[in-house]
Amino acid sequence: MYEVELAELKRLAEFIKTQYNYDFTNYAMSSFRRRVQRVIELYRFKSVDWLINRFSGDEAFFEEFVSEITVNVTEMFRDPSFWRELRDQVIPNLLLNHEHIKIWHAGCSSGEEVYSMAIMLSEMGLLDRVTIIATDLDKGILEKARKGEYALRNMELNKKNYIRYQGKNNFEDYYTVRDDKVYMNPELVENVQYRVHDLVNGPVFNKFDLVLCRNVMIYFNQVLQNSVLIKLHESLFRYGYLVIGAKESLIWCEIANKFIVVNNEERIYKKYRD
Ligand SMILES: C[S@@+](CC[C@H](N)C(=O)[O-])C[C@H]1O[C@@H](n2cnc3c(N)ncnc32)[C@H](O)[C@@H]1O
Repeated sequence: MYEVELAELKRLAEFIKTQYNYDFTNYAMSSFRRRVQRVIELYRFKSVDWLINRFSGDEAFFEEFVSEITVNVTEMFRDPSFWRELRDQVIPNLLLNHEHIKIWHAGCSSGEEVYSMAIMLSEMGLLDRVTIIATDLDKGILEKARKGEYALRNMELNKKNYIRYQGKNNFEDYYTVRDDKVYMNPELVENVQYRVHDLVNGPVFNKFDLVLCRNVMIYFNQVLQNSVLIKLHESLFRYGYLVIGAKESLIWCEIANKFIVVNNEERIYKKYRD
């Protein structure tokens, strides 16, 4: 079997950077390698050069490749204890001095995290007091988020999480089922704007009270984590909250001293200094 070598991976990442302005050069190499290897096997390419040749002039294939390279796994109410903390501590705290709350889901994948937020806010009677911007690098997955259509078979896990979150209603109230698909209630996301945005190369485009960037930086190396965290810090109002994934940490990053830990277990931080 053809094994992708590190030098080839670097060449591939450089090629993509110059041709498409997507920067995978600082993605964690082991995960990038596994995924490139999978694409090569899937399409039966003989080498990385074959893959590079296949890109030329074929935008659709490149988009497919991006989807394969990025990890899109997600769930509704992923880490239910985190969502309880958000509902019981973070949001009430923000409401003490905010009439309106601005939320950014950075790396929202297919939108399950956004629906969790919308369901939570709707149960708190706050849906019309928020603006939500949900972004991802992967156009295809963002399209899925926009549609709000999910496989029925995934709802079992989502419902289990919702029950552990201790939601107020029946989870089934939030969608309709047709054949083997569920269609989320569109009014949940009336205040949501979906946008393609690259956390690595993209600009700081707004300021928020709450930024969720969960299970995204886990695929970045330390250099990239640092530079993305600087952008996330800049995207927060002072005393705004940052949430990262359960397996991620701020401890080693250069910007750690500008945040205070609100809840270590749930990876919730507060911007403390500009
Ligand atoms: C594992 S999913 C996390 C989804 C959700 N936040 C969660 O925790 O369930 C990671 C997402 O990050 C996105 N991503 C990866 N690199 C990115 C980048 N440079 N800019 C924006 N999004 C990126 C991927 O496309 C993917 O949808």
